[in-house]
Amino acid sequence: MKRAAASNESALAEVRDWVRTAQRIVVFTGAGVSAESGIPTFRDALTGLWARFDPERLATEAGFRADPPLVWRWYAERRAAIARAQPNAGHRAIAACEADGARVTVVTQNIDGLHARAGSRTVLELHGNILRVKCLEGCGDPQRIEPRHDWRADPRVPPACPRCGAPLRPDVVWFGELLPQDVFERAEQAVLDADLMLVVGTSALVHPAAGLPLAAHAAGARVVVVNPAPTPIDARAAQVLRGAAGEVLPALLQSSG
Ligand code: OAD
Repeated sequence: MKRAAASNESALAEVRDWVRTAQRIVVFTGAGVSAESGIPTFRDALTGLWARFDPERLATEAGFRADPPLVWRWYAERRAAIARAQPNAGHRAIAACEADGARVTVVTQNIDGLHARAGSRTVLELHGNILRVKCLEGCGDPQRIEPRHDWRADPRVPPACPRCGAPLRPDVVWFGELLPQDVFERAEQAVLDADLMLVVGTSALVHPAAGLPLAAHAAGARVVVVNPAPTPIDARAAQVLRGAAGEVLPALLQSSG
């Protein structure tokens, strides 16, 4: 492993070379990639959501069942903030790399939809998407609620499932829940097929998602970490670029590289 500051031009040049010659790239992202869009991370001291709010109350099914209006309102506020946010230079650099012809799969733990809004075409959302809702009792397919039913017009807090009347909940993965199996399987396959994986803005503490960089490394891919702070993946990384995603990714992925 080599460690380098983001300002270290030779480290950047080396990774840019890897990007240019890679056959298939996975960009694995966490909350840090959206930090510069004004969306708080989870575990950063003081500013992280889990430093200020209790995940047991707000990010578990038991917490939702204990107080559905409280949890619904918390996600409604986050949804509104995310709707106001814009993709940043990091999201845009990833999308531009794919538009330039690289075979890029974005595997994200984020629920904000900003990769797609930046123009990334292949985005696997491991933890769901806050803009969607699903039935708390799982009576139907979450994708099919919205076209048939405008839950935003329902004055109840939370709105009710149009099929069975149970509360609707955000279509995000809460603690103790399984990841969407089809999405995770596609992510695993993309990781196995990749020869380069960029691990951007994640503390890499939450499994099973955090196992994907380890799987990439075990399968022989080069793993590059982009993060201002140390992560558990650094020890396996071929290069560690210390810095903010919005600064490092444009420097790394610009097509002239
Ligand atoms: P964390 O909050 O755990 O980690 C955010 C990471 O982003 C940290 O390593 C920071 O150092 C880094 N970071 C901060 N600002 C950055 C910037 N401008 N550029 C690059 N990196 C930056 O967030 P996640 O790793 O995404 O789960 O958390 C994983 C999961 O835990 C989330 O998906 C969520 C949470 O509970 C669910 O919602 C299921």
